[in-house]
Amino acid sequence: MKALIQIGYGDFKNNLVIMDMPIPEISDDEVLVKVKYTSINPHDYKVIQGTFAKTEKLKFPALVGSDFSGIIVKVGRNVDNLVEGDAVFGTVDGAFAEYCKVKYQDVCLMDSSVDFETISSFSVVGMTTIQAFDRVGGINKGDKILIHAGSGGIGTFAIQYAKSKGAFVYTTTSTKNKDWVNALGADVVIDYKKESYLEACSELDIVFDTLGDSYTYDAFKIIKQGGKIISLLPVEINMKVAKELKIPKLIAFFLSLKTGKLKKLIRAMHANYEFIFMRPNQAQLKEILSLVQSQTIKPIIEKTFYFSDVISAFEHLARGRTKGKITIKIDNHE
Ligand SMILES: NC(=O)c1ccc[n+]([C@@H]2O[C@H](COP(=O)([O-])OP(=O)(O)OC[C@H]3O[C@@H](n4cnc5c(N)ncnc54)[C@H](OP(=O)(O)O)[C@@H]3O)[C@@H](O)[C@H]2O)c1
Repeated sequence: MKALIQIGYGDFKNNLVIMDMPIPEISDDEVLVKVKYTSINPHDYKVIQGTFAKTEKLKFPALVGSDFSGIIVKVGRNVDNLVEGDAVFGTVDGAFAEYCKVKYQDVCLMDSSVDFETISSFSVVGMTTIQAFDRVGGINKGDKILIHAGSGGIGTFAIQYAKSKGAFVYTTTSTKNKDWVNALGADVVIDYKKESYLEACSELDIVFDTLGDSYTYDAFKIIKQGGKIISLLPVEINMKVAKELKIPKLIAFFLSLKTGKLKKLIRAMHANYEFIFMRPNQAQLKEILSLVQSQTIKPIIEKTFYFSDVISAFEHLARGRTKGKITIKIDNHE
């Protein structure tokens, strides 16, 4: 099979190559999926760039990618709820290939009411959003929520998700995206090129921090006392964050020596601050499917690449200006 392989850390052109690889052998608890579509997420390119190399060293050659949709072509002996021919989607390490093996607990059955491309764009962003809000006790009707980067993969899902739960949604984006982000349902769209979100928002119940760095610290200026902040990027590696990222204890200890600012801000605002790292969850995949089927959440796909052009997809996403998602068509016979 053709698979995208990472051969080192650094730029995409020198460290990614499409190679012929053996079709993966499945274990008793796995299914083999013939992949139709994948979508690309920042985590995929950050792995290539070596962002996580200090704490999680890869062995090369390594498979790449996470989101997938496709057809099951083989099932393991312990799998009794899925059969060959089932259409499924989910996330797994190594999805950028003609075939991927996945634990049966990590796939979700789909049907013809959704197409392969649409559903391939949702697993990572959908599960991340659901896990983020769940971690701080969910969304209450009327909650005032700021979702940063409303035009990104996470933002476009999160705005629609938070609105479906009855929240009042503020979001940030640049001038060129303002109108279509507004059409996603956001109540207040703040053009960060022209306005300050710190002036436009106050007394928020929740900040969904998709940008990290100073955005994390500044979130404490605009939440109410006892408000909640969920970060997708760790601004400090304290022991709790290290546990979430499964960083070995000794490395975590040394990294945690540099922390402190966050703790002071949490105390001052009596805030509930959480960092989350998304993990596959079948129940949440089912929830995503149902949100898509009911058209509560609509896909925003800026561009589709062919697998042969996958490196351009990496370069495109890594520029940080993507509108919604970009997908990659793996199976050209679809
Ligand atoms: N912890 C986890 O489990 C987890 C899971 C998923 C993602 N993440 C992280 O979450 C982040 C967001 O992911 P994503 O998929 O949404 O990324 P993305 O789709 O690549 O985000 C691109 C979008 O960000 C917007 N943007 C960039 N800078 C901005 C700023 N200063 N203010 C407002 N908007 C800005 C851009 O809009 P403009 O062109 O208008 O600037 C663009 O539309 C990434 O860093 C990713 O690694 C973490």
